[in-house]
Amino acid sequence: MTTKTLLLLPGDGIGVETMAEVERLISFFNSRKNGVRFETESDLVGGAAYDAHGVAVTDQCVAKAKAADAVIFGAVGGPKWAGVPYAARPEAGLLRLRKDLGLFANLRPAICYPALADASSLKRELVEGLDIMIVRELTGGVYFGEPKEIVTLENGEKRAVDTQLYTTHEIERIAKVAFDLARKRGNKVHSAEKHNVMRTGVLWKEVVTAVHKSYAPDVQLEHILADNCAMQLVRNPKQFDVIVTDNLFGDVLSDEAAMCTGSLGMLPSASLGAPDAKTGKRMSLYEPVHGSAPDIAGRGLANPIATVASFGMALRYSLDMAAEADIVDNAIAAVLASGLRTGDIMQPGMTQVGTGEMGKAIVDAVKKLVS
Ligand code: IPM
Ligand code: MG
Repeated sequence: MTTKTLLLLPGDGIGVETMAEVERLISFFNSRKNGVRFETESDLVGGAAYDAHGVAVTDQCVAKAKAADAVIFGAVGGPKWAGVPYAARPEAGLLRLRKDLGLFANLRPAICYPALADASSLKRELVEGLDIMIVRELTGGVYFGEPKEIVTLENGEKRAVDTQLYTTHEIERIAKVAFDLARKRGNKVHSAEKHNVMRTGVLWKEVVTAVHKSYAPDVQLEHILADNCAMQLVRNPKQFDVIVTDNLFGDVLSDEAAMCTGSLGMLPSASLGAPDAKTGKRMSLYEPVHGSAPDIAGRGLANPIATVASFGMALRYSLDMAAEADIVDNAIAAVLASGLRTGDIMQPGMTQVGTGEMGKAIVDAVKKLVS
């Protein structure tokens, strides 16, 4: 029997509640007589780690994350930690994990479940069947570029600077991820940047064009200015297949694409490193696109689907369990089709349930599908 090791990092706020539903699903998989066994370990990250250790993630936790077959992450942050030192703020834990694990490729699918097309703020015909993959560069750009500081000038005024920085290699490797994914989907890539204003945009466009020519001439490539991309996403989202973009534009565009689908509470993401030269293993972290939602945390109201679907992505991309990943996805679709809804996706005529009931319904649907 094969064993896979998972590090669970629930973090703060609703991350704790949604991760409990992933654990429910893992327990079910582990109760099966044959198949893969999951060995899980949990640790603190974000505000929870700060409260316990004074840092947003410990060295030991980073080491465990590197050693695991996959990391499943909940969410971090909340008003409780508004006053902590900048370097120890909850988000710093997530950013350090991304950087130290080399997770340069962030895959954010925006899929509109048929049962939810009416929950979108866009018209049904615009979003029904929507299936976009945003490929966000995750370890470079303005998130990590130096200098990054606030300095006090001689006249007492302050000056803040963040640095947007990209190298050829960073752009090449993310472009290849996007082209590889497009080949398995609609064979089309939009590369979004701002070459009309930013030198990094000029280099981005040049390098993506060169990678396309040498590596993926069979894939359709279109360059699009990031602001236009934002506009097109609400005008006609179905024109997109894969969108590849930098760290900051990817942060913004992925929230926008997520909302087109009906709810931020639905969408998972995968963050992947480069394959190890010897073993081929990629470091990986899976997390919902939504945040810690402090306003509803601890009340059993959160939608666990994005976190459960993130575990589903781990099955597919890191654990070599595509059949189980399909089962998890189909179970989610079946539960939605049966009319169960958490508050964030509630619609007239549907049955509103809490986090635990939704999680249990998904596990029950998985049970039916495996037997
Ligand atoms: C995301 C989040 C993070 C980001 C925050 C929590 C640091 O918004 O994953 O999209 O900006 O990358
Ligand atoms: Mg974001």
